[in-house]
This record gives sequence, C-alpha cells and structure tokens, in this order.
Amino acid sequence: MTTGRAAGKVILVGEHAVVYGYPALAMGLNLGTTVRLTPAEGPTQVVSRPCDARLVEAIRAALPESGLAVEVDSEVPIGCGMGSSAALSVALVRAAAAFESVELTNEEVFERSLELEKVFHGTPSGLDNTVAANGGVIRFHRGPPARFERLPAPNWRAVVLESGTAGNTAELVAGVRERHPDNAEVLARIGRLVSQAEAVLDQPERLGPLLTENHRLLVELGVSTPRLNALVELALAHGALGAKMSGAGGGGIVLALVDDPGPLLRAAAEQDIRAHLVRPGVLV
Ligand code: MEV
Repeated sequence: MTTGRAAGKVILVGEHAVVYGYPALAMGLNLGTTVRLTPAEGPTQVVSRPCDARLVEAIRAALPESGLAVEVDSEVPIGCGMGSSAALSVALVRAAAAFESVELTNEEVFERSLELEKVFHGTPSGLDNTVAANGGVIRFHRGPPARFERLPAPNWRAVVLESGTAGNTAELVAGVRERHPDNAEVLARIGRLVSQAEAVLDQPERLGPLLTENHRLLVELGVSTPRLNALVELALAHGALGAKMSGAGGGGIVLALVDDPGPLLRAAAEQDIRAHLVRPGVLV
C-alpha cells in the first residue's frame, strides 16, 4: 500500500483579489486528507465513501486505468471551503508518485495537482494547491509565475464554523469577473489589507479587526451570504477578535480568530453549528 497526504487550508485574507494579482495569506491546517492506494484486480476504483463524481474524474487523470483500489480519508470536511479538493488533488499526486516510486519536489507536486484541481474548479489561482502541497502559513502571489513565501507560523488559535452549504467556486469567481472592473476598487482595498495583515500576523488583537474588515469587503464584492454574515456576527458576539468568511463564499466557512474559544464553541454547539478549533499547522 502507498499513501499520499496533504493539508487542508483556510484563507486568512485576500481570496478573490488573489485572482487579480494581489497577494493572499493562507494557512495549512492540522487537518488533512490521505489517499491510500492498494494493488487490486480490475479497473482502478474508489473503495471509500462518499465518492464525489469529480473525484472519479481526478483519479482517472492521475492514476493508471486498472490495478488499484483508492481509499480517501478526509479530516477536512469535503466541499466546504477548507481546501478539500486541493488537498485531495495533492494527496492523490503524492500517492500516485509513491506508487510508481517517483520522488517529486513540492514544486512538481504543485504543478501536477493544479492540473487535477482544474477538474474541480476551472481556473484556480493556485493558492489552495500551494498551501496543500507545502502546509504552514504562506503569502501567495498568482504570477505568472506563481510564487509563495513561507511566513513564520503565529501562535494563535481560530474557530472554523461551517455554514452547512457549499459554494460553487467556479461560479463565484466567474461572478466577480462579470462585475469587473466596477469592483476593481474593492479588490484593491482587499489587496491593501493583505499587507496590513501580514505586518501584524502574530498579534491577534490587531489582526482580528482586519479579518472583519476583509469580510465587509467580501460582502461588498457580492460573494458572502446572509448565513455567513450571521456566523460572523455570532463569532463577534462570543468574543472573537475578528471573523470573516473564508474561501470562495456562497456557503462554506467562517474563520474566527479567538483568544478563548470556549464561548464560541459552546454557542455553536447550542445552535448545532459544526465548529473546528484550528491552528496554523504543518502536516506535510
Ligand atoms: C478559493 O479557495 C479562493 C479563490 O480566491 C479562488 C482562487 O484563488 O482560485 C476565490
């Protein structure tokens, strides 16, 4: 049996603007996705459940047509803005390389996984795959060529709240493009926030309000939802230092920076909201 593993991610600041050439900050999580490949008779197939139809397509692109059983084990909730598709693409590339006894650099893993990621979401900036392949906290720039820098991991914790629905990344990115260049100023303001956030990355009390400001700009950009806005308000009402939707929007997750996670985790549990305590983690 061979395995490949990759980190899930959350975007701290800069989603959508990153597509227009502004930098973004994101962090890998101490939650991830593992792909296991076992030799088997007959056509290659996924033996674990649930099996996303797009997963079958990605597997077809990454693996030999026959001879493998594929097991996917994801601690990252699937399709909810925590980078599950990028983590899956990277884990799949790593497992396939291990199966063929080929050593790949993280750069090669990134390149190959980006091709697979296109199955899930048309024209990815490469941000999600960069974090999935490298873990840690990074500043990403779309390029071309895409480039990233690893930043010192800060020591704070955050709560991720699931909205319970998934947005369609390809559609949301296309919607922002349709409204361009009318939204150019909002995108530029998000771009400026990224530099401010990077300067205070290890100071949660100063970083928090910038996350909340990024959320307001994403609302203006038209990618948030009433549910995501309500989750941001819930977080702020329960002691969060700042909160924002994270990822493409239209559903997905809210990231809340917390000093003491207790009040927010309890409020989430009372309202049946799935919540995860996360920290910038390196899995890879
Ligand atoms: C999606 O996780 C992040 C977006 O910025 C799209 C992308 O970077 O490809 C919305």
